[in-house]
Amino acid sequence: MAKTKTQFICQSCGAVHPRWAGRCDACGAWNTIIEDNPTAGIGGGPVQRAPRKGNPVALVALDGESEEAPRISSRIAELDRVTGGGFVRGSAVLVGGDPGIGKSTLLMQAAAALARQGNRVIYVSGEEAIAQVRLRAKRLGAADTQVLLAAETNVEDILATLSHGARPDLVIIDSIQTLWSDLADSAPGTVTQVRTGVQAMIRFAKQTGAAMVLVGHVTKEGQIAGPRVVEHMVDAVLYFEGERGHHYRILRTVKNRFGATDEIGVFEMGDSGLRQVANPSELFLGERNEKAPGAAVFAGIEGTRPVLVEVQALVAPTSLGTPRRAVVGWDSARLSMVLAVLEAHCGVRLGNHDVYLNIAGGYRISEPAADVAVAAALISSLAGLALPVDCVYFGEISLSGAVRPVAHALQRLREAEKLGFGRAFLPAGSAEIGKRSSAGLNELSGLPDLVAAIAGSKPSSQEGHGAD
Ligand code: TYD
Ligand code: MG
Repeated sequence: MAKTKTQFICQSCGAVHPRWAGRCDACGAWNTIIEDNPTAGIGGGPVQRAPRKGNPVALVALDGESEEAPRISSRIAELDRVTGGGFVRGSAVLVGGDPGIGKSTLLMQAAAALARQGNRVIYVSGEEAIAQVRLRAKRLGAADTQVLLAAETNVEDILATLSHGARPDLVIIDSIQTLWSDLADSAPGTVTQVRTGVQAMIRFAKQTGAAMVLVGHVTKEGQIAGPRVVEHMVDAVLYFEGERGHHYRILRTVKNRFGATDEIGVFEMGDSGLRQVANPSELFLGERNEKAPGAAVFAGIEGTRPVLVEVQALVAPTSLGTPRRAVVGWDSARLSMVLAVLEAHCGVRLGNHDVYLNIAGGYRISEPAADVAVAAALISSLAGLALPVDCVYFGEISLSGAVRPVAHALQRLREAEKLGFGRAFLPAGSAEIGKRSSAGLNELSGLPDLVAAIAGSKPSSQEGHGAD
């Protein structure tokens, strides 16, 4: 029999190292590598036993009859949008997010909604006692539903419980980090235990046709395995995000074998749970100060839905040798790029200015289409000129200073019009679209056009103090 070999596994990304190190080479995280025994259980490969002769399986052709994936819809529209129309029977969905963001709340609400439709829903809590779960359900107005509860962490016990009685339609495991199996030797929360537990749950889902929802905490420290280590095993990965101090939450698809990715669902956390936000633009533009310089409204797209958000910039003179560049909600490398293009192609000098950039409401933008909105906010702040209140901005900036067209221009304009924005600065070449839109369109072929348009506008109340 082979000698038992110890391995060192990164708890953040799951990379295996032959010896301990302070930093994981694979993902760059510090202090995440711990000693783990992978020989036992499913997470580390099959349990060692005498070799057996394999049985051949039947090979089939690619074109055959297969029906549409059967779904159970929660009728919570924001959740169904993200899952692609409801949870798929026999599939496993991972819901990741920071601790305290509202994963348990969301899933309890989903469980209650599904139970109301007559589904058999089992909620297995490994973190909270039954009393705590009941208390939350009461707060959410879900206490009268037929959701079945269990507080258990042992994988074998959970499987035995699930197999007992009628087949469940939906199973929620909260959370995967508390799962531990007799088959794996290592401590609960390690990569081996988490993978073993998740594998067993996925197998149960595939065998019985139950939809399985697995909750995973995103972890900063290395002693507990994060949801990343099981992303490849599940059918869909959703992340629940939000800034502390802001009450709204975004559920984002990262992977979906049964639907589109890049979808978002927007919720607002209130006293009695999560409320759906059908029109996120109104939320993100809610607290606008329309007279202030340095604010530009970006017409963005998240998945299939347009979202309007405010980009705020503060450009202030500095006495430091190296000016500060601070970004919240956007990519700092992209900010550097926009600043460089402004300097090189538009003659806007920012070398003696600190630059702060913030996306309002704690929202995060990942689209390059926000370049033009960021540039507009920067120029506006530098010049001390407030931008027109009824104007939106979008377009990608290339290093040559050109403004490049972006996808879904018409959808962006329609959303803007719906919310009372009559004007738009957008890439040149979107004109075809413009004919079908009533908005006042300013086409930009390059970034200098934008600078000229803003600097050439009449100062509203303040005196200009920077740009020349
Ligand atoms: P929770 O679902 O327990 O987070 P997670 O499972 O992701 O760790 O939610 C935690 C936070 O949500 C907690 O700080 C309290 C808040 N909350 C509300 O504001 N309103 C509510 O109705 C509920 C149930 C929770
Ligand atoms: Mg929880």
